[in-house]
Amino acid sequence: MTLTEMAQALKDRALDVLSGVSDAFSLDGFFSSYLAKKGEINTLMSKMKEVPNEEKATFGQAVNQARNDVAKAYEEKKKALEEAALKAKLQKEAIDITLPGQTSTLGKVNPFHAIVDEVTEIFLSMGFEVVEGKEVENDRFNFELLNVPKDHPSRDMQDTFYFNADTLLRTQTSGSQAHRMLESPVKGPIRMISPGKVYRHDDDDATHSHQFGQIEGLVVDKNISIANLKATLELFAKKMFGAKREIRLRSSYFPFTEPSVEVDVSCFKCGGTGCSTCKGTGWIEILGAGMVNPHVLEMCGYDPEEYSGFAFGIGIERVAMLRYGIDDIRRFYQNDVRFLKDF
Ligand code: PHE
Repeated sequence: MTLTEMAQALKDRALDVLSGVSDAFSLDGFFSSYLAKKGEINTLMSKMKEVPNEEKATFGQAVNQARNDVAKAYEEKKKALEEAALKAKLQKEAIDITLPGQTSTLGKVNPFHAIVDEVTEIFLSMGFEVVEGKEVENDRFNFELLNVPKDHPSRDMQDTFYFNADTLLRTQTSGSQAHRMLESPVKGPIRMISPGKVYRHDDDDATHSHQFGQIEGLVVDKNISIANLKATLELFAKKMFGAKREIRLRSSYFPFTEPSVEVDVSCFKCGGTGCSTCKGTGWIEILGAGMVNPHVLEMCGYDPEEYSGFAFGIGIERVAMLRYGIDDIRRFYQNDVRFLKDF
């Protein structure tokens, strides 16, 4: 075989070997064997001096041809292998969009807070301010300033949890009335509500709970009469329960209001004809209220000759239970998400 023939044979062999290469490592090996400086193609070229003069040109051409063809095939192979590797990588890293995603559960507003928000909006629209009360209260604000001295019998109905003889979990939000009056630097007009939790010693059942919520209300100004109380609470009832609602006042007793009333609203389920929600009476009791007792005004720094006022207290769970048809007061704080999902 002449050296020129060897060049052709080398090219054929190299291309044959290359066609069997299928990974980057073998391709590197192929390059070293054939195309590198000391590879077979250059080694063959170095045999030029052994080639007879008349064959030199043909030989040179044949080796160059071999180098070009093999180098071209090598580049193509390299590109093909890189593309295949990239494709495999992409496939491996691909996100399977058919897999179910991670869902996050959305929270819901507890109906207790839904009622607080609704009532607050109504009174804000009437120009009331919202005052934050204290759940841990002392005897003076929870009882004494509200006209309930130490030995007053009405304390029996509001037994609660004591930290010591003087500090307790408040039994009513009414203490916020005293705070607001006593702590205002200027003894001027007041229009406030104060929502929050209260506590009483009670045996829990479907309608009784050791903890529940109230929204206190207080208006103090010159010339406030029971007509203002009625007009304000009637407007509240219409906004809260529907434009057709009416209210009625029944006489009642609270130590810090005089006169005191229970306020009923005409039943928002049956419109007043009688149903199970209103127990056939057409009326639903929604809050306690009354004219601020002059003695309370006086103890809280307001001159009862100059100022008068009215106060009210709304039971939050009671309104929520009527509004949403909730059967058990304990559901509000048991933290069962299935309950919240219903709203
Ligand atoms: N604090 C009273 C209660 O808990 C409710 C009330 C508030 C009554 C304000 C009159 C005025 O029963």
